[in-house]
Amino acid sequence: MASSHNRWRRAQEHERRYWQERGDVAAIMARRKPHYEAALARITELLPERPVIADVGSGPTCWTRFLPGARVFTDPLMHSYVDRWGKQLPEGLAVAAAGEALPLRGDSCDLVFSVNAIDHCADPGGVVRECVRVVKPGGLVAISVYAHPRVRAAVRRLLEAFGGTDDPHPHSFTRDMLLSLIEGCGLQIVEVLELGAVSFRTRLAFFQRTEPLVLARKGASG
Ligand SMILES: C[S@@+](CC[C@H](N)C(=O)[O-])C[C@H]1O[C@@H](n2cnc3c(N)ncnc32)[C@H](O)[C@@H]1O
Repeated sequence: MASSHNRWRRAQEHERRYWQERGDVAAIMARRKPHYEAALARITELLPERPVIADVGSGPTCWTRFLPGARVFTDPLMHSYVDRWGKQLPEGLAVAAAGEALPLRGDSCDLVFSVNAIDHCADPGGVVRECVRVVKPGGLVAISVYAHPRVRAAVRRLLEAFGGTDDPHPHSFTRDMLLSLIEGCGLQIVEVLELGAVSFRTRLAFFQRTEPLVLARKGASG
């Protein structure tokens, strides 16, 4: 447990330096927006009027800025994002918090949204369980992750086991692992939006990362 926490801290140091020194929020958003646009439109169709939305591991990009409603953006690095990118952060409550312990009331959100973040966390299962806790009965959870082909994920896990990497992603998911984690936390999968390949140094389709975005609901009885 202590070692996985140390591994997470190293990943977060990498993440913090990236956003402080190289991250260009406007350029990243311009490049990535077409990737998320259709998914954000689909989520909007599924939301009630004036929804309450939690964006977990929002980064400084805060993609839920494009959804209607009241938003809370949570991220363990939020203080450094506010220092560096304050003016570019959207309207909403920005809170420094890890997804494993969200400072939100149970059953309080219409949508809990987390893209490209749970593989950065110390405990992805703990984060999904928190998403389930804070979403209202019948509410929506939307989670994406960069999914590796099975062989690539296995190689990455081996590197992790032998401490051979400081990659900012301490966890390596396949698409199936993401689906079983979400179902294992008691959510009912509504649909999976395939956002397509995510850039990586290969043109070989079978070796590319993809980004599935899973839309799932908490049971109406909680
Ligand atoms: C690659 S960034 C993605 C940011 C944003 N969601 C996006 O897609 O542009 C990953 C984010 O996950 C956050 N993160 C890392 N550990 C976390 C945790 N335990 N709980 C919530 N977020 C975490 C990082 O601080 C970072 O902001």
